[in-house]
Amino acid sequence: MSEALVSVGALVRDSGFSRLKSYIIGLTGLAYYDDKDDALAERLARRLRANGRADCTGYLELLMSDPEGRRELDELISELTIGETFFFRYPEQFEALRTIILPDCIARNRDERRLRVWSAGCSTGAEPYSIAVLVHEVLGEHLPDWHVTILATDINRDFLARARTGRFGDWALRSVAESQRAALFVADNGQWLLRNPYRGMVSFAHHNLISPGDCWMPPDGFGGGGFDIILCRNVLIYFDRETIQLLLPRLADGLKADGWLLVGSSEPNEDFNRVFATVNAPGTTLYRKAAPASPPLWAAEAPQIRVLPPRPARIARSRALPPRRSPPPAVPVERPRPSLSEIIDLADRGRWDEARRVCDQCLAVDAMNPVTHYLSALVHHHGGTGSLEAEQSCRKAIYLDRNFALAHYQLGAILAGRGEPAGARRALLNVLRILEQLPDTAPLPAGDGLTAGGLRAMVKLRLEGRGRS
Ligand SMILES: C[S@@+](CC[C@H](N)C(=O)[O-])C[C@H]1O[C@@H](n2cnc3c(N)ncnc32)[C@H](O)[C@@H]1O
Repeated sequence: MSEALVSVGALVRDSGFSRLKSYIIGLTGLAYYDDKDDALAERLARRLRANGRADCTGYLELLMSDPEGRRELDELISELTIGETFFFRYPEQFEALRTIILPDCIARNRDERRLRVWSAGCSTGAEPYSIAVLVHEVLGEHLPDWHVTILATDINRDFLARARTGRFGDWALRSVAESQRAALFVADNGQWLLRNPYRGMVSFAHHNLISPGDCWMPPDGFGGGGFDIILCRNVLIYFDRETIQLLLPRLADGLKADGWLLVGSSEPNEDFNRVFATVNAPGTTLYRKAAPASPPLWAAEAPQIRVLPPRPARIARSRALPPRRSPPPAVPVERPRPSLSEIIDLADRGRWDEARRVCDQCLAVDAMNPVTHYLSALVHHHGGTGSLEAEQSCRKAIYLDRNFALAHYQLGAILAGRGEPAGARRALLNVLRILEQLPDTAPLPAGDGLTAGGLRAMVKLRLEGRGRS
């Protein structure tokens, strides 16, 4: 390997750079790096050197390998993520928590005496610990009677490890009044150790808001959802609009009815208003889960969301879509025939390797079934195996049934995710062309109840989103 080759300039000029960039953004959501090639290359160069890789393609191969790729992805994420955080960031939001949100949750949960808070993208822990301090203060002597869960998650395992120590430098305490410091922290070797009643109130767990391999709804043991409050502050700023549009309904799903969402002060856009009700508090806007008055943005996106990740990661159940050609009689079937519903079930549970294996078995029996190829594309795409395999499977599905609207749509999503807007646009226009012949109410093959009208709306959203970005 030539060290000189792994320079920032060489990486940016490397023919595999844009593919590697798309892959990383697809896995992490960090579209922030879309127009920051030098910053990305600088971080990548460190990882290539550490792994003795000379070029982007070699490093991409490493990332895609198993289990080395997963370990390396963690190292890379530590390089890429930005963890700026401090105690009581946005004091106006903490004031709203103290005076509006917590009193509301406490009143509503009076009988069960449970309070559940999720800090999504918690970095090194200042945010969830600030919540712990506040909940401690607001519940006061009643705290022991309450079952309080403060779950804090992040994609960066190093941040989580630091968060668990409860140790912070001066910089993280810059919003903590001098008078409050001694009550909350103990000075410890030039750092500040958060005192125990607060430290013990927070549980940390690894979680990727984007990755389909992870359960998006935070981890087992926390009951997956039903949160009274979600803080997802200064995380969405690193994602693109399309990703945010996909995430907002998921965050809403994670909340109880009337639950609250707090985001960073520069993050809101009109998409929030489509999914959440707004509540104006002094100096800040709060979001609240509410039944939307008109069909919300996410209703049109629902099937896409289902197939993306979560736990259970659902893939649209296939309706019988007749293959265009009859299957070749060549392969004798002696073992039980694997079924498409098996693939769907495995994907629902995030068991991507097995789902892939069953796809292959189904294809060995019936290589001409476009639905199997389509499902295989979804499994590759959302299971993180690679967009090339996903693209190939989509193209096979389309070859076998050129009017397979969802396969064209999926192809568009794959190409867009990989930073190939022209191809993505072509695929989406193909969807619109196919749908032209169908009334809005027509259900789509392999669409799990998705109608032509629904898919049309999804395509338009994507086309508009692409136009804006
Ligand atoms: C700027 S910090 C925000 C910390 C804290 N929420 C605050 O506002 O002070 C952004 C955090 O988002 C995390 N993050 C970025 N992408 C993520 C993803 N896909 N899933 C979960 N966390 C992510 C980063 O690791 C980082 O810790």
